Order: sequence, then C-alpha cells, then structure tokens
Amino acid sequence: MAEKSKKPELIQTAKGMRDILPFDYMARLKFLEKAKNIAEYYGFKPIHTPYLEKEDLFTAGVGQNTEIIEKQMYTLKTRGGDKLALRPEGTASVMRSYLQNGMQHLPQPVMLFYDGFFFRHERPQRGRQRELHQFGMEIIGEGSSIADAIIIKTCLLILEEAGLKSLKLHINSIGDGECRNTFKKELAAYYRKKAGRLCEDCKRRIKTNPLRLLDCKEEKCQEIKKEAPQMMEFLCEDCKKHLKELLEILDASKIDYYLDHHLVRGLDYYTRTVFEIFQDEGMAEDEADTAEGKPETLPQEEIANEKPKKLQPLALAGGGRYDMLAKMLGGKNFPAVGCALGIDRVMSLIKEKQKFVPKEKNVKVFFIQLGTVAKQKSLNVLEVLRKGRIPVRHSLNKDGLKGQLKIAARIKSPYTLIFGQKEAMDDTMIVRNMDTVAQETIPISKLVDYLKKRL
Ligand code: HAM
Repeated sequence: MAEKSKKPELIQTAKGMRDILPFDYMARLKFLEKAKNIAEYYGFKPIHTPYLEKEDLFTAGVGQNTEIIEKQMYTLKTRGGDKLALRPEGTASVMRSYLQNGMQHLPQPVMLFYDGFFFRHERPQRGRQRELHQFGMEIIGEGSSIADAIIIKTCLLILEEAGLKSLKLHINSIGDGECRNTFKKELAAYYRKKAGRLCEDCKRRIKTNPLRLLDCKEEKCQEIKKEAPQMMEFLCEDCKKHLKELLEILDASKIDYYLDHHLVRGLDYYTRTVFEIFQDEGMAEDEADTAEGKPETLPQEEIANEKPKKLQPLALAGGGRYDMLAKMLGGKNFPAVGCALGIDRVMSLIKEKQKFVPKEKNVKVFFIQLGTVAKQKSLNVLEVLRKGRIPVRHSLNKDGLKGQLKIAARIKSPYTLIFGQKEAMDDTMIVRNMDTVAQETIPISKLVDYLKKRL
C-alpha cells in the first residue's frame, strides 16, 4: 500500500528570531530618519560594514572573556575553512574599517554612524533579541572629552526626539590600561576573600574578568558589591582630568547624570568613559513583554498568573571611550568614543507609535484597466505616471469595471483613469472626474500634464 504522504509542518522562524511586520518596520524607518538627521547635523557620515566578519575581529576587539564572545557569538566555518562570525556589535567593525581603509589619513576626527542588525545568542527574554537592531555613532581620532560629550548629547537627543521622557544618564570612568590594572587586582583580592558567599559566575569572574564582578545582578552578591573598592580611588591623574572635563561640559550643557561606580559595561575595549541611558520610569509590563519575550523557563500558566510589577529598566543605549581598540586590532593607537542605541527597546517604549508611521498619501487618481491588451500595457502606463510623480492606486489583479470602480469609490479618489481595449490600441486614456462624472479622452503622452493641472 502506498504510504500516505505527511503534510509538512508549517516552517516558523528560528528560536529567538522574529519578523518585524510592516507597521513596526515603518515606525522604525521613521525613527531612523530622525536619528540620521540628528547625526548628520552633528557631522556624522554613514557607513555600512559586513554582517559577516572574521571571528578574530571580535575575539580580539570585544574580548575573549566577555559574555558576548564566550556564550553569544554565532560562528561558522566557510567551505574554504575561514572562521567567520555574525557581527554581535558594530564598534569593532567600524574600527577595522577605519584602519583597513586608511581613514587615519582623512581630516580627524572621523565621525561615522550606522544602523543595522546584530546577532547575539542570548536567552530570549524581555528586551533581549537574538537579532537586535541598533543605531550607532563613533568618533575616531579625537581623545578630548568634548568628543565624549558630543556622543552623549546626540544619543540623548535621538531618544528625546523619539518622544522618550525621564531619561537617565549613568556614567563612570573605568580608567586606562594602567590604572585599571591596579584596580582589577585590588577588586579581585577583595572578592577572593568573600568567594564562599559569591554566585558561581562571580567565582569564575575573579579569575577571568574581575571588572564584571561589579555588574552582577544576583541577590547574594549585592551586599558584597556595596563594600567593594571603587575605580574612582584608583584613577590616574590623566583619567581623572578627562572625567572632570567631561562632567564640566555636561554641567554646562545642562545634561543631568548619575555617577554610577558599578557601571563597567560588557565589552573589553572600553577605557575611561563608559555610560548607559535608561528611562527612569521603568517599563510597564504590557509595553515591554509579550508572552514570547518572557524567559523561556517560565511555564505559560505562571506567566498568566504573574502580578504586574515594576520591571528593572533596561539600557536603551550604551557606549564609551575605546582608546585601545585600534591597537587590539593590530593598528596604531587611535583614540575613539561611541555609542549604540537599541532600537528594539526604544520602539517598545514609544507610546504613540502611530505618530511614527508615515500617513498613507491621499491618492487622487485610481487606475482601472479592462481587457487583455490593457492589462498587458498597464505597467508601462504606471511607469509614465510614476516618472511624472503622480501618486496612483490600482488593482491590477481585478478584471471587471464594477469591482475596480467600487475600490475607486471607497478610497474617494477624485479622478479615475479608465484604460480599455480601444484606449490601449490608441495609446489614450479616459479620465473620469468622479464628482461630475464628466469624461475626457487624453493621449497618454499628455496625461501627466493634464492631471498635474487638475490635481
Ligand atoms: P551594547 O551595550 O552591547 O553596546 O548595546 C547597545 C544597546 O543595544 C543596549 O543599550 C541595548 O539597548 C541594545 N541591546 C543590546 N543587546 C540587546 C539584545 N540582545 N536585544 C535587544 N537590544 C539589545 C554595544 O553594542 C557597543 N558597540 C556600543 C558602542 C558603540 N560603544 C562604543 N561605540
């Protein structure tokens, strides 16, 4: 007996991946347009770097012992044997491009912006996508604190222009290669004494990445963190001066900040300034969470019964100075500073998303085609109208006059173009005024001028 063929299962997106549907995507495009306008006004130029880079770029730049490299990178081996990675972030790529393309020979600083998707194999949960959307800005070739201030200011402006209020800037200095090393040793020594009371991750971090001890969110490590040594006490004179100057510029620009001694960031390339921007109000449960976005370990009934609670605000943007990155990538030293905004998180907070979706244009002309020859030629006619910048709606999949007129009436277009068999042969068009029902036959070569005079 012939085997009954099995209906194939509907193929879905891979775990942690999602589609961005038209409404959301249009809102993102609008947000990006505003972000680009601000960046360009401040002197940034656009750049695109590849989605796939050599894996070494990120292990060298972001750091072997960071969470991103240890656990979250999507890597692959090509048929030729190259080890590549889907980019988890944009800064290392932009610096690689700066060095590779000799941008150090351009007038400095070089100011670049980018947007696009990045990939981190994170546990899917609120505000954490595996394919994340960022808008980033980088200033390379400038070591003074005014560059840090420009990055912070433009980043805040973009969030404010998106309508976000109560933004809170957390800022810290993690020193340079020298003074940070002394601090790291001191920190590791302090934590080593308390190792018995630490979570497993922190026990590991004492050896691998002591700075990240300050970043731990585990309840049991919080008391220990409170008493931990602070970087401020270890900053060298130059790093202190850099921070002082930056804070003075922020004060003069009336930008509020919170000096957050525990802010260290998750990427190894940072030196001196690090910052993150939050929305102070936190996220309301329904804005930030979908059942899909909840931790995957929570059973569905638990999700449903959970009481609404104020959630920990997530960073909407983060960045800092990275004066050593160029050297880590094999180049000479070039001071640099930058930031990236998380567009997924920003979009989930924009309350009136409708405002971010461009309104559909009020289309004044509806095009109707009747018969085989007219249908065949209709793409040419639409092209004449597009070149003449006449916005047109049509319904090329329909055949009958009645159905097409019905749509024209529904969208209330004042003019209808009727392209029948005869018109298709003569290269003419019937133009019907839908108010007066008056009709005129116009040669297609004169159609754009005719409509422009009336619209
Ligand atoms: P980052 O802090 O890893 O920094 O990411 C910047 C922003 O991207 C975060 O503040 C957050 O809003 C968003 N983000 C990060 N991970 C996720 C995720 N899994 N899902 C959704 N959103 C996420 C960087 O990437 C640096 N390259 C920023 C930088 C530029 N530093 C200097 N220049």
